[in-house]
Amino acid sequence: MHGRFAATVLVLIILLVAVRVLRAQRKSPDAALHPWYQYAVFYEIYPRSFMDSNGDGIGDLNGIASKFDYLKALGVDAVWIAPCFPSPQVDFGYDVSDYENIDPMYGTLADFDRLQKLGAEHGIKIILDFVVNHTSDQHPWFTDSRSSRTAPKRDWYIWRDGKGTNPPNNWVSNFGGSAWQWDSKTNQYYYHYFYPQQPDLNWRNPAVVDAMYGTTEWWYKRGVAGFRLDAVDSLFEDPALKDNPVLPGTNAFGDPKIENKYTQRLPEVHTALQGLRTVANKYDAVLIGETWTDNVAQLKPYYGAANDELQMPMDLLLTKLKFSAPVFREHIDAVEASGEWPVFVIGNHDIVRSWNRYGDGQHNDEIAKDMAAMHLTLRGTPIMYYGEEIGMQNNDPTRREDVKDPIGRLGWPKEKGRDGERTPMQWSGDPNAGFTTGAPWNPIPVTYKTYNVADELQDPNSILNWYKQLLALRRSNPALLDGDYIGLNEKDPNVLSYLRKTKNDAVIIVINMSAAPQTVNFNLSKQRLSGKSAKTLLTTQPSLQNNSSVAQLSLEPFAVYIAAVSKK
Ligand code: NOJ
Repeated sequence: MHGRFAATVLVLIILLVAVRVLRAQRKSPDAALHPWYQYAVFYEIYPRSFMDSNGDGIGDLNGIASKFDYLKALGVDAVWIAPCFPSPQVDFGYDVSDYENIDPMYGTLADFDRLQKLGAEHGIKIILDFVVNHTSDQHPWFTDSRSSRTAPKRDWYIWRDGKGTNPPNNWVSNFGGSAWQWDSKTNQYYYHYFYPQQPDLNWRNPAVVDAMYGTTEWWYKRGVAGFRLDAVDSLFEDPALKDNPVLPGTNAFGDPKIENKYTQRLPEVHTALQGLRTVANKYDAVLIGETWTDNVAQLKPYYGAANDELQMPMDLLLTKLKFSAPVFREHIDAVEASGEWPVFVIGNHDIVRSWNRYGDGQHNDEIAKDMAAMHLTLRGTPIMYYGEEIGMQNNDPTRREDVKDPIGRLGWPKEKGRDGERTPMQWSGDPNAGFTTGAPWNPIPVTYKTYNVADELQDPNSILNWYKQLLALRRSNPALLDGDYIGLNEKDPNVLSYLRKTKNDAVIIVINMSAAPQTVNFNLSKQRLSGKSAKTLLTTQPSLQNNSSVAQLSLEPFAVYIAAVSKK
């Protein structure tokens, strides 16, 4: 009897110890405080342009797999792969014709499974891009829908009669022209917020909702860690088809400017997002939103009133601001005041590269380093865009006939399209930047000779090595992971400064966003910190390497200074 009791106690003790050991192994700095995606750094990959493994000039999944060592060494935790599903490629993959497969151009499902396995071995999660608003017009659902007015899937899309010979109303496509496409087979119009080859799904139809939720579950079961949801703002439109208010002027396509009052951010979007989140929660998956908003207030509802919608609605507002300490400060303050978990983005495949957009034409490398420092030390989850870390630059077409992105051909010359920010990743100074042995699908800027991974790895002062250091610091520093944001010197017109502070740790970040030297003084006594015991963690300015006080700092143009500060 005694023997059995002792054996049971022993087994229990062994179990307890094992559980503790396992827990300790799994713990990241403060694993209890945040879900995984709040500690992660995300990295967007445009699959056409990341790495070509088979010499056809177009990137592919095996190419991505071959660069996981690079991504791990860089220090990112999750990659968001822009659509790699079967597609006629009118909108380069954002026109999906099968949600549950891989486009042969990119590989096979088996390649995807291998990629995912390799990702797990490298500690890199895979996020897919779910195009929820529309399908391709070649998707079997649409083929059925357009076949007759009584087809089983007719109501999966939005079909309406015209007004006489005119479209049903004044809604304008984001990609030019009316948002209504006449279809002579059934003598009705269908609605498309983007290209006519991208008909909008009817999210008011429960069968559509089920199919879309089911698709996410299909991928979660395969192991994906979440989705970036494309164009969520435009999921629903007014069923009464009220005309949108017309604004003065015309856009790059020559269409009247309109306010998307009845075609964007309708309240029904939230119900759809809640449903997607319910499925995601079963798999501890994350939902990232492509949420273009006019202001921070519009961003807040996307988290859900009960935090039951998107965990990561992207703050794309930062991409529209000019490089300026007061302008950034005002935005960060607004984001902080909203009380949500920020998701800062400085570039993506739809907008001019950050190197050009924030750059002043003279100090773009220094400014790229400033942007990196801010992006990776603010509170929140950063999403990087491939190539940002090496200072990749836009390479816009100079002739209309060279443009690949249809909006660039339609809107030329005011709108040159998005080819320029989607050029192949610059891996080395070798031919075609080491991206392909074939002919690259999109021309590589000549600057690849100096801005490339191989050369920048050798240069301790490169943009790439700056990113690597920042990412490593962020990963290991509890204040950068968990700390509150506290703005400092809020009136300074040139220098952006802030603290990241937890109960036990504090880091000060100082970024001179001007082309002139600046002197700044900090009095941290209000924060109960001593400004006289700073320990430099990272700086672009060698003279500050051994600095130990922030009472007064002399900063070179565009200098970044990051230091640990201790309690009084
Ligand atoms: C947003 C995507 O980022 C963009 O590339 C695409 O053209 C539109 N949505 C339409 O899917």
